[in-house]
Amino acid sequence: MIQLEQVSKTFRGSRQPAVDRITLRVKQGDICVLVGPSGCGKTTLLRMINRLVEPDDGMITVDGRSIAQMDPPTLRRTIGYVIQQVGLLPHRTIAQNIALVPELLKWPREKTARRVAALLEMMDLDPGEVGHKYPHQLSGGQAQRVGVARALAADPPIMLMDEPFAAVDPIVRVRLQDQLLRLQQTMQKTICFVTHDINEAIKLGDHLVVLKAGRMVQSGTPLDILTQPENDFVLRLLGDDRGVKILDQTRAETLMDPFADAAAQAAANGHRVQAIDPVKIALERMMLMNTDEITVCEGARPVGLLRWNAIKAHVHRISGGAS
Ligand SMILES: Nc1ncnc2c1ncn2[C@@H]1O[C@H](COP(=O)(O)OP(=O)(O)OP(=O)(O)O)[C@@H](O)[C@H]1O
Ligand SMILES: [Mg+2]
Repeated sequence: MIQLEQVSKTFRGSRQPAVDRITLRVKQGDICVLVGPSGCGKTTLLRMINRLVEPDDGMITVDGRSIAQMDPPTLRRTIGYVIQQVGLLPHRTIAQNIALVPELLKWPREKTARRVAALLEMMDLDPGEVGHKYPHQLSGGQAQRVGVARALAADPPIMLMDEPFAAVDPIVRVRLQDQLLRLQQTMQKTICFVTHDINEAIKLGDHLVVLKAGRMVQSGTPLDILTQPENDFVLRLLGDDRGVKILDQTRAETLMDPFADAAAQAAANGHRVQAIDPVKIALERMMLMNTDEITVCEGARPVGLLRWNAIKAHVHRISGGAS
């Protein structure tokens, strides 16, 4: 677990703090997303966690130990860092780039080679084809995946990821996000992820931290923030399609009427969604099938009925009755 307690940083020569009294906690195995406009202090905050920037004030602990007491190189070996501009070394091959930390740790050559190949495969890159290339020979999406592979090389428990997918087109970006979520299911890293894209934040984050001018404006689960935006700044950040985003973050089971008895269950209609599917999916299916109710199932078992009216009432309620 990573904990920040009233952490501040003002760069020499600036009047405004880049990071201003931030307190936050990133739980083990969680993806915490820092989101906010350019210049709000995201990178600075991230770089204080691996001591590339030293705070003026406050305290940062990892698993209860103050990082100020740790030797920075030792600390950094437990923290993978994907930097904002990928930052692959141009004169080293992809394999050599990924092997940077294992070499620093003096891993045997064989073990390093195996690890590099495994990481490239994990990132859907062909080790035989990509390993011996140089960074300029890769596409933007490939280079970003190599950046992630390099950060994962020594299997650090913590990952700091600074806009790792910013430089690729929207389609590749969605693929990289899906891949990260898939990997995270088995890796269970503690991840601090920076983005200025609210959709990316909502999709990836277990927990979001909204920043503005160095200050924390709001923090909570994506659904917390979507349903209870703290102020107009957060509301604007969430965008005009907040209602749709909420339906994408709400599980069908939360709005269904559970079946009271076996008879009701048996009468369940043919259109189905899973209990854990987003309401947005249910809604799409209802529109396509031209029906105003759909059966919610756990596996094959019908557990309730989701009605169009319940969805409508929910959206109306959370949007505060606004248009
Ligand atoms: N090394 C530095 N020296 C002086 N000022 C800095 C330094 N690094 C960052 N700043 C300033 O601190 C503030 C926060 O910068 P930071 O890079 O953390 O923002 P950011 O949220 O990551 O922005 P972006 O989304 O553009 O990457 C900015 O006003 C920036 O100009
Ligand atoms: Mg930045």
